[in-house]
Amino acid sequence: MRHRRDLIAYRIDQLAERQPGKPRVLSVACGHFREGRMSVAVQTGHLEEVVALDADPESLTEVAASSPAVVTPCEMSVRGLLSKNTDLGSFDFIYSAGLYDYLEDRLATALTARLFAMLRPGGKLLFCNFLPDTPDIGYMETFMGWELIYRNLGEIVKLTADCDPSAMAATHRYQDGFGSVGYVEVVKAAE
Ligand SMILES: C[S@@+](CC[C@H](N)C(=O)[O-])C[C@H]1O[C@@H](n2cnc3c(N)ncnc32)[C@H](O)[C@@H]1O
Repeated sequence: MRHRRDLIAYRIDQLAERQPGKPRVLSVACGHFREGRMSVAVQTGHLEEVVALDADPESLTEVAASSPAVVTPCEMSVRGLLSKNTDLGSFDFIYSAGLYDYLEDRLATALTARLFAMLRPGGKLLFCNFLPDTPDIGYMETFMGWELIYRNLGEIVKLTADCDPSAMAATHRYQDGFGSVGYVEVVKAAE
């Protein structure tokens, strides 16, 4: 999970460095948004905005207390995000870590399509899931009480099934060096 946090911070910084203009970022189910502390772009404000979305108000209180002004806490559930009446605007980078592990396929697929639709041209959506061969599953279930839905890389990619195929420029899949977390990144076509 520390690797996941660091990888996302690195991806935010990479984007801020490479993209002309300041990128707008959405973190879905941000928790305490710990990657924000590791990201130079977040700490120095080299972003248009980071919308840090979570359903838990206590997590967002912590985000507000520990983040610079470029971060906007947003109390909203996945259900709210999927509502037709919700309009958070468009983003260059949307990611979600630690959420898909709890969502059944139908909801996860609908969420993925919704997040992909919220990307600006050329934008990227990154989401991840614990893998079925995660070495610490026994510990996670027994001592942490985490009852997760594990998915292999192929199953994570399948969650992009409802994304508009004509707008998908590329799909990348990879996993961490521990065999614990699988990542899928979908790139939206540039206009
Ligand atoms: C395991 S934590 C992950 C936090 C953070 N993204 C990370 O990588 O450490 C899961 C987060 O998802 C949020 N969450 C769970 N269900 C949600 C839902 N239906 N809508 C929005 N947030 C949700 C929880 O409040 C919690 O902050």
